Amino acid sequence: MSAAGDAGRGDRGSSLLLTGIGELTTGEPDGRCAGPAALLVEDGVVAWSGPAGEVPEAAGASRVDLAGRAVVPGFVDSHTHLVFAGHRAAEWEARMSGRPYVAGGILTTVSATRAASDAELAAGARRLAAEALRSGTTTLEVKSGYRLEVDGERRLLEVAGAVTTETTFLGAHVVPPEHAGRPDDYVELVAGEMLSACAPHARWADVFCERGAFDADQARHVLGAAAEVGLGLRVHANQLGPGPGAALAAELGAASVDHCSYLDDADLEALAASGTIATLLPVAELSTRSPRPDARRLLDAGVRVALATDCNPGTSFTTSMPLVIALAVAEMGMTFDEALQAATAGGAEALRRSDIGRLTPGCGADLVVLEAPTAVWLGYRPGVDLVAAVVRGGELVAGAWPAAAG
Ligand code: NIG
Ligand code: FE
Repeated sequence: MSAAGDAGRGDRGSSLLLTGIGELTTGEPDGRCAGPAALLVEDGVVAWSGPAGEVPEAAGASRVDLAGRAVVPGFVDSHTHLVFAGHRAAEWEARMSGRPYVAGGILTTVSATRAASDAELAAGARRLAAEALRSGTTTLEVKSGYRLEVDGERRLLEVAGAVTTETTFLGAHVVPPEHAGRPDDYVELVAGEMLSACAPHARWADVFCERGAFDADQARHVLGAAAEVGLGLRVHANQLGPGPGAALAAELGAASVDHCSYLDDADLEALAASGTIATLLPVAELSTRSPRPDARRLLDAGVRVALATDCNPGTSFTTSMPLVIALAVAEMGMTFDEALQAATAGGAEALRRSDIGRLTPGCGADLVVLEAPTAVWLGYRPGVDLVAAVVRGGELVAGAWPAAAG
């Protein structure tokens, strides 16, 4: 099985007609359309969708009757750190008893990841990508950032590249122990030799711009060098407190600034005026007992928002986009439709992709069949696995087609 990422589209000449859709979310501004609806896939791409009574002639198509189940676009998880070794359950348990999260916890995973073989790391990444796929994620972004040395970071990106094409170089995650007290030397290494080794294996570069990690000048230096070699930009910022990262992301035209729990009005204005998406990661706040970002405030200020898991062993050990959607609605002021959009088309925008995240003609046929009559159940039934089948590029890649009604 290929892991969640960018598998090729279905075979040329193949077509698939889904009928009996109880509710169809295409990602168009009019939101969810009540069924019965149908959707036609040709060569792995959505060819047509609409009311069941208007299905075009589709001679030769395989037909599947979904018997009233809801269909949504496959989730686009635009922020994960899937390549690592070990776990930090004890750190989580201590946090739940009141200990604060500090960025230094990342070094625990750095030492476990440096000690692991590439084969072990690849097996772990494949396992998590398969878990994500099973919960409806059809596109994943994956970052490096847990080896923090030239060859080590390159190898993490090679491992990431086996599960997705959306790979991100995060050499500027924290300063590693051998550079303790010499952060500027490390920044030179990241922006120089490490970037040269990693850029051929990455589409994006990211920097953790936060107290305890990298300041604005250091972040600007790394991101500027990355842009020069053709990488797209992303920034981790404003997670643990107010700071310069969000404004820097907007100024540099980054595709996304991620976390965004602490934004002031000037940050909102800068983001709204830029093409930079604010990617919110609510399980990171859940797992660090931190205040959640105020999505309502961002949306009302005209900032475009995506939702993602931040899957990592320290602050957010989940691959579940349904959980992310449920939290965004219950605790961050998003309507259900806004949250579903942010987890699909919003994630695609954060990756600057127009070929995924929607079920409109011409988009990849990446979709989730829910064991539910309406997508709203993703929030209404939190913690319950509602994913019946996952289709990517027109092919069934997880779950199963519903049995024909007897
Ligand atoms: O997105 N903020 C920085 N990086 C990760 C945390 C990684 C870790 O704690 O291992 C994050 O939350
Ligand atoms: Fe992260």
